[in-house]
Amino acid sequence: ALPYDLSGVRMVISAGGTREALDPVRYLGNHSSGKQGYALARAASQRGARVTLVSGATSDPGEPASVEIVHVDSAREMQSEMTTRAADADVVIMAAAVADFRPTAVAGAKIKKGDDGPSPIHLDTNPDILAGLVADRAQGRIPRSTVIVGFAAETGDADGGVLDHGRAKLRRKGCDLLVVNAVGGGKAFGTEDNTGWLLTADGRETGLPFGSKTLMASRILDEVAALVPDGQVP
Ligand code: PMT
Repeated sequence: ALPYDLSGVRMVISAGGTREALDPVRYLGNHSSGKQGYALARAASQRGARVTLVSGATSDPGEPASVEIVHVDSAREMQSEMTTRAADADVVIMAAAVADFRPTAVAGAKIKKGDDGPSPIHLDTNPDILAGLVADRAQGRIPRSTVIVGFAAETGDADGGVLDHGRAKLRRKGCDLLVVNAVGGGKAFGTEDNTGWLLTADGRETGLPFGSKTLMASRILDEVAALVPDGQVP
């Protein structure tokens, strides 16, 4: 039986990939299927949490029952939904793959194949949603007790520096828990299974067994439940 240890906990989870429009028919995107974030939402709801899922583009992630879903396209739309909803959340989890850059301008009409061949795409930097949430919490716009969880998709393996990158990212982003996925070679993005490590801000590091995204979700939520302050769970 599933533990019912997240009863009443308000959770906002992002999932899927953002899409950054180039013109009315084209975009820059990534291979996130949303499966990991949706598995988290499903598992959290089954453990009693009140879950809002802020979903970018997905492919076949399965509809979670009893979860409010808000659909977004771009990183800036995702940021706006996450920031508003984090203000009354106990836990915020950024499982989405957010585009770091967006085209500087969105063409009003479909870009035509020119006579001069392809033209360069100019990019601007997108906001870092996770770092912004941590800053909002530091400034009191989000409750100080809110637990903030990030993900990191890193190429390589434990010996190849994935963990070092993860540790550096945990410090840089300032979240409470970082889920580090080893990606590349067809791992994590779009797959049914996942593996990686859980790194906490207070220095605990736990390896996760290779298994379904549902199993991964339940291990992540065990750690989240331990981080939610006592007394916050009604
Ligand atoms: O969707 P699936 O197919 O199931 O795959 C799951 C996944 C591999 C996409 C997921 O588990 C995952 O690792 N998500 C984060 C991927 C990622 O983009 O990592 P990153 O290292 O670029 O970003 C680090 C963290 O900052 C993430 O929590 C990300 O959501 C956040 N971020 C990144 C960029 C940005 N501009 N704003 C952000 O908030």
